Amino acid sequence: MVFPTTDIQLSRIPLLSLSAYATLASAFIFFFFFRRPAHPLKAPKLLPIFENLPVLGAVRFFTARLDFFRDGIRNSPTGNFCFWLGQHFIVGLSGDESRQVFFQNTKFGIAEGYAVLFGGGPRVKNDEGADVAQEPGFLSYFARRVNHLLRREYLAKNISPFIHDIQARLDELPSQTGMTDPFNSIYLIVFQLTMRMVGSAEIASNTTKLKKTLKLFETIEQSTTPTSIIFPWMPTLAFFKRTIAGGRLFHLFKGLMDDRKITGRREDDALQYLIDMGDDIKSVIQFIVGAVFAGQLNTGINASFMLTYIGSSRYWYDRVRAEVDGVVDKYAPDRSLPLTQRFEAIPIEAWETEFPLLDYCLRDSIRLQLLGTMYRRNIDDGDVKIGNEVIPSGAFITYHFSDVHQDPEIYSEPLKWDPSRYFPDRAEDKKKPLCWVGWGAGRHPCLGTRFAKLEQFLIVAIFITRYDFDTCDDKGVHYDEVPPPDLNAHAATKPKQPIRLRYKPRDLKA
Ligand SMILES: *[C@@H]1O[C@H](CO)[C@@H](O)[C@H](O)[C@H]1NC(C)=O
Ligand SMILES: *[C@@H]1O[C@H](CO)[C@@H](O)[C@H](O)[C@H]1NC(C)=O
Repeated sequence: MVFPTTDIQLSRIPLLSLSAYATLASAFIFFFFFRRPAHPLKAPKLLPIFENLPVLGAVRFFTARLDFFRDGIRNSPTGNFCFWLGQHFIVGLSGDESRQVFFQNTKFGIAEGYAVLFGGGPRVKNDEGADVAQEPGFLSYFARRVNHLLRREYLAKNISPFIHDIQARLDELPSQTGMTDPFNSIYLIVFQLTMRMVGSAEIASNTTKLKKTLKLFETIEQSTTPTSIIFPWMPTLAFFKRTIAGGRLFHLFKGLMDDRKITGRREDDALQYLIDMGDDIKSVIQFIVGAVFAGQLNTGINASFMLTYIGSSRYWYDRVRAEVDGVVDKYAPDRSLPLTQRFEAIPIEAWETEFPLLDYCLRDSIRLQLLGTMYRRNIDDGDVKIGNEVIPSGAFITYHFSDVHQDPEIYSEPLKWDPSRYFPDRAEDKKKPLCWVGWGAGRHPCLGTRFAKLEQFLIVAIFITRYDFDTCDDKGVHYDEVPPPDLNAHAATKPKQPIRLRYKPRDLKA
């Protein structure tokens, strides 16, 4: 999973908001105050001025990110290049060597590159060299708590509640035949499981509360705009929306904490663990919001896409179903038992090892849908060497997923969803070091991989056991191929074209 951010990433809004244009004029007044330092001699080539405007910087970073990167790479002798976003100096990297430095260099900070959702969320400072991590210990605190909460025994313990959650949400779908938008229905299931695992039981167990909370998260996600990077000091409408939604989330969790304190009520959940550890309220809320956000944004989208890819291909659909049926039958051969009970019979070991096809399906869904750039910052006092160039101290560093995940020299027909590319005899993802980075890589692997895989396998396995389904548009026209991702997007996003799952209950006795 990718760490959530408010500042640098995640905008859904392709163009600068109106307010940004409105302030553009006045911004020019600031021009002289915002003059940029001379370009460091050994840093990669600076993009020409039409790509890298005064004051604003690289507008195409927001409007057409992949095209922007590809042009930058093409016009640079080394494939690395520099540009500005407002007052932030950024190095864009590409190629095998740079990728390894990006993932492995110990002088690059991830929290300083990304920003945390709450607590004033590091507004990346203008003055170069200044420490942007407003909470220096937060990342390690976050990692410690996540690692505890996502321990295997907890996952195992939660499998049964997860199955009940999934079944209950699927029960709410129109029962006979129908179509569902997985980016709503499956998305909500992921939110529920994530809330159950790293959030609060009160919310996970109450659909009304659950949906309300999801709305707040979505508001925050959608109201993060490029403006907040270029003019971090500017109060925009989006900024207010985000602040209000953030405030409501804060009060929601604070209310739950207060209630438990006053009534002495306890729950068996992450919130209780954090309270028991004596964490202060701000850390608790920051933790939960950050963890849920990271899980939701990525897994919610991936899980939905995985089902739509499987439903678009009869070939893979049949194979996945055979794999799932095989495991379910192995642990619960009696097909007359309720499905919930049959799934509860599958141990965690089986979820982790007996679904290789699901794993390949997920891998290729992630490869196609992991959009945008990753971030780091050189937090060392010195420059970091990369080939014959350097990344100056304090610079931000970006690497675009497509540089590796859509590289035709690594992945044949890179825009095609094809799980067989990971079969041991092809193993395209092992052609070069770090050429599949969907679960993070190097110094920053995703902390939630095990949980994310488990929940996605559960959802897909239950869905394909419970229903006959295929993938279609909103008029019911079958998709042989899921519409391609918008590679210029900034992060995992719901698709723009309508994509539905058309399902009917499966006759298990057949
Ligand atoms: C669920 O939450 C809603 C809104 O917070 C509340 O009105 C309702 O009573 C709750 N339902 C249950 C079963 O606790
Ligand atoms: C899905 O995609 C994200 C990025 O969008 C990736 O980092 C993450 O590992 C995947 N999450 C899953 C499969 O839960």
